[in-house]
Amino acid sequence: MKDLTPRREDLEPIEIASRDEIAALQLERMKRTLRRAYENVPFYRRRFDEAGVHPDDLKTLSDLAKFPFTTKQDLRDNYPFGLFAVPREQVARIHASSGTTGKPTVVGYTKNDIETWATVVARSLRASGVRPGDIVHNAYGYGLFTGGLGAHYGAEKLGCTVVPVSGGMTARQVTLIQDFRPTAIMVTPSYFLSILDEFRNAGIDPRSCSLEVGIFGAEPWTDAMRREMEEAFDMHAVDIYGLSEVIGPGVANECVETKDGLHVWEDHFYPEIINPETGEPVPDGEMGELVFTSLTKEAMPVIRYRTRDLTRLLPGTARSMRRIQKITGRSDDMIILRGVNVFPSQIEEQLVEAPGLAPHYQIELTREGRLDRMTVHVEALPDHAAADARAAAAKALAARIKGVVGVSARVVVADPGGVERSQGKARRVVDRRPKD
Ligand code: DLL
Repeated sequence: MKDLTPRREDLEPIEIASRDEIAALQLERMKRTLRRAYENVPFYRRRFDEAGVHPDDLKTLSDLAKFPFTTKQDLRDNYPFGLFAVPREQVARIHASSGTTGKPTVVGYTKNDIETWATVVARSLRASGVRPGDIVHNAYGYGLFTGGLGAHYGAEKLGCTVVPVSGGMTARQVTLIQDFRPTAIMVTPSYFLSILDEFRNAGIDPRSCSLEVGIFGAEPWTDAMRREMEEAFDMHAVDIYGLSEVIGPGVANECVETKDGLHVWEDHFYPEIINPETGEPVPDGEMGELVFTSLTKEAMPVIRYRTRDLTRLLPGTARSMRRIQKITGRSDDMIILRGVNVFPSQIEEQLVEAPGLAPHYQIELTREGRLDRMTVHVEALPDHAAADARAAAAKALAARIKGVVGVSARVVVADPGGVERSQGKARRVVDRRPKD
């Protein structure tokens, strides 16, 4: 793999500023954001009044803990535009995340917000080893989803040539990669695996293609998957994190030179980790739920937004800004199977290490009698598709899951191509248990 470490002089000064400098900027911006929310959004005024807090009560960064949380339900309750802090006419763009039930969650951006967003995505790309002049193949979905346009504006801002392919038409993705010779690809890790299959179907060695780095996010993926993709393509695989409510992609990103967790762009997004049960902040280094307060957003500031993502905060390394550990699950993705907590990522880790199986998977939950049952649907690699090879692979994976994750799962090995594919975020868990 090529050394893509960015030059220090190309970084924004704040990325490598002292912690004191960063904290001073955060405090000033946090005060402004609380005031903006209180004065312009009736929802926040009511919440702060009910909690008996006022923006003037924030004297230090840790005073933020006195302020109430915001949840996805609050966004739904104020659907569609109730949380905007500027007149609607100043909102230049709307995005929304579909969610699985009910109304989508709507977010808005002023022109300045779009500029801020492009800046943090450009910074994320630079951290990933992308340089001005590079060709970026963008296979995140365009539309209401923040992935496509968010990545697009950031890559343009960095000075790249953007190919706005969006998701889907996998054979054409391969043709365009072969013909345009991009050095970077932005795509969900699960869809990238479909692109990998397509390379192989077309008889093209993926290691021979022009890609030097992939910037993968929008869903959890493991270090085991990173090794798989880096090996298959002889390229770097870097993690990008974000969520629509906070801005979209570009809230945090890994540095290509260290790949040791994602630096949170703390000059724009203030992170906290809380105990999800009690809501109390926990010290850096401890696992819990990630919470964000936006520091510069105009159209829709968010105060202590509960992401449901589970991780911990770690000190800065390649940059001064703190890191989050790679996110391996959300509190609402956690499967509790006969009392054992299981995340899909734990199954992924075992699958990627298991011989004879492709890295695509889906977990099905059913109830038999009073017992919950987990079936892991996987598929054979083309050269391991014979019945005896499949049976052996199923047995081996079930044993790994039992031994390492600690639950009994049935493993069903489908034909190559037999597991559902997504063109964006993969659906990892299908819950068919009766709702009672
Ligand atoms: O997925 C924004 C995004 C687009 C991020 C493209 C990265 C790349 P939402 O659709 O609002 O926004 O979904 C946000 O996706 O709370 C996490 O649970 C999950 N997620 C996003 N990035 C990662 C990641 C976009 N790198 C939700 N690792 C978040 C794990 C991620 N989970």
